[in-house]
Amino acid sequence: MKLTARTLRGLEWVAAAEIERRLPEATSIRMGSREVAFEYPALDAALLRLQSVDDVFWVVSTLDGVGSTKDAVTDLAFRVQRLAWAPVLAELRSVREIPDGFFFDVVASIDGAHRYNRFDVENAAGETLAPLLRGTHLARTAEGLSSSDRPDLTVRLFVQDGTAVVAVRLTAAPLHRRPYKQATGPGTLHPPAAAALAMVAGVTADDRVFDPFCGDGTIAIETFLQHPGIAFGASDLDPARVENARQNAGRAGADVDFRVADAALIPWAELDATAIITNPPWNNAVHAAGGAEASLDGVWRAARPALRGGRLCVLADAKLGIPERLDGLGYQVGFTTLIRLNGRLTSLVVAGAHEGSAPGLSPELRAWRTIAHSGDGKVGFLA
Ligand SMILES: C[S@@+](CC[C@H](N)C(=O)[O-])C[C@H]1O[C@@H](n2cnc3c(N)ncnc32)[C@H](O)[C@@H]1O
Repeated sequence: MKLTARTLRGLEWVAAAEIERRLPEATSIRMGSREVAFEYPALDAALLRLQSVDDVFWVVSTLDGVGSTKDAVTDLAFRVQRLAWAPVLAELRSVREIPDGFFFDVVASIDGAHRYNRFDVENAAGETLAPLLRGTHLARTAEGLSSSDRPDLTVRLFVQDGTAVVAVRLTAAPLHRRPYKQATGPGTLHPPAAAALAMVAGVTADDRVFDPFCGDGTIAIETFLQHPGIAFGASDLDPARVENARQNAGRAGADVDFRVADAALIPWAELDATAIITNPPWNNAVHAAGGAEASLDGVWRAARPALRGGRLCVLADAKLGIPERLDGLGYQVGFTTLIRLNGRLTSLVVAGAHEGSAPGLSPELRAWRTIAHSGDGKVGFLA
């Protein structure tokens, strides 16, 4: 079967490496802009545990000869209806629950010149599919879903240049919406970005990791889920965010030591950390406060001697110039890349704490990054 994983722009190569590592039966892995396509023998629960991707879809069919005029919508809806939906539902039910009398929605994206819009396609396909699937179609308008019910199933239609790709989301909600993450505050991190950060940082189960700006605990939890049992400590100045992090970690089953602390006053030598992975305040959704209010430099400066050959991995708005700041403070910047997060250009930086310690990527990540950089299109590269 053909599957496609959606990613943040700039993280395609991290997702491709994760798919290759965690899904040994995946073949024909190919990167495109904001997606990684691959072949897989049959649905299984491992697909639902991918962490660096936003979502995974099963491509049920690709329909050619889709017209661009208004009357092409009815024709497309009937062709979608004629596909073999019973085996699709049975296969999905082999990896997750879909209740009887379920709710479903149809989400279309239309690229190129067409005399219809996404709502025309979504509503026509939804109406023709409802009796066949024996589900209730949740119609969508420009304001969102017409009902407060949540879909148990999403049918995706990607219409482009006379072709319609028909797909279904493997999960009921997008994969990036983690069930554990219910307590959140401003500027909380997108979980796939947190997971990618831990992968690029090259964390292993033997590391002792710390996040001094932990917010709701996303980085700690995603790292713990990759390496169950890892020693992870985390702190934040805001007691409410630390409480959120504790609750989220409890739901995720992640055993992380969360504390309230000003990052500028952390006794680094006592922590004995081998890696810091963090997403500091960007003075956008959340402002730096306490001892970090004027600059983050004091935190990086204080941590460096205690890291003893370890790594500092930072995800922050590109305008903060983190690589240059770290370079000026004696860190060895080993790797930087740009991703697009919430519409903003964001830099991901991995630096070593001491001379000659510039960390590199793992061979698998390096190989996928090289592929993304070469060939026909520079996939997902922003600079
Ligand atoms: C971008 S948010 C981190 C979001 C986090 N990664 C998450 O997933 O929720 C930055 C965090 O830095 C915290 N912060 C601001 N100044 C601080 C300081 N001096 N020491 C520690 N935390 C601070 C804020 O309370 C906020 O939670």
